[in-house]
Amino acid sequence: MSESRVAAITHDLLEAFQRIVEKHNITQAEYRAAVEFIDEAVTKGETFLLPDAFLESTVVANASKQQQGTPGQVLGPYYVPDSPWIEDDRLAREEEPGERLTIRGEVRDTDGRPLADAVLDVWQADAKGRYSSFDPSAPKGNLRGRLRTGRDGSYAFETVVPAQYTIPHQGPTGRLLKEIGRHPWRPAHVHVIATHDGYRPLTTQIYFQGDEYLDSDSVRAARPDLAFALHPADGAKSLAFDIVLEPA
Ligand code: DHB
Ligand code: FE
Repeated sequence: MSESRVAAITHDLLEAFQRIVEKHNITQAEYRAAVEFIDEAVTKGETFLLPDAFLESTVVANASKQQQGTPGQVLGPYYVPDSPWIEDDRLAREEEPGERLTIRGEVRDTDGRPLADAVLDVWQADAKGRYSSFDPSAPKGNLRGRLRTGRDGSYAFETVVPAQYTIPHQGPTGRLLKEIGRHPWRPAHVHVIATHDGYRPLTTQIYFQGDEYLDSDSVRAARPDLAFALHPADGAKSLAFDIVLEPA
């Protein structure tokens, strides 16, 4: 960020803070309690969770208004870069518990041209709602991987249906959520980052139609146009998710 942009934004933030202090007559003790709340969040490992839970979806929704292509979604706190390339289009191990799901689709540009060799970086919670690398009881690197589209822009991978998921709510972030009357649930989702040279990288999420938390996502990110039908397919499920990337 340029220095003048930092100055302009800081100025507005401070002005907003001043208005809030005046409106609510915030006391010095309350100010101190708020600082201690932030300190507690950091101490308990919620440095990323706290802002991601309350603020990130607003940034993403605003950016999406000015963008074409598939809508963006929050990255969330559980992305791990440099995941391995998946083999045989399998994101889930053979023995992974849960309902099998095939996700397939095409990556195209905003003119409808297929994009070959686009990279999809995918991660999700398992059928118990656990993210590997963050929940020590999940196998390391589980349900994380990268794949490429073929020459016709198509892709497919096999996984399991992720569980609906509560953001961690035993700590300060959860306390604050509860205080403002929100539950900690997120609708079930699969995270995708789609990239291709010459195009704006897309960070998004796939949701499932009929999920009871689509309308009350605790982090206020989910949107109906990213909720897709789970079609029955040979005792498993399948879902079609086409991705449109905008030229950079
Ligand atoms: C959060 C968790 C997620 O799994 C996600 O996709 C987005 C946000 C969170 O805890 O804030
Ligand atoms: Fe997530």
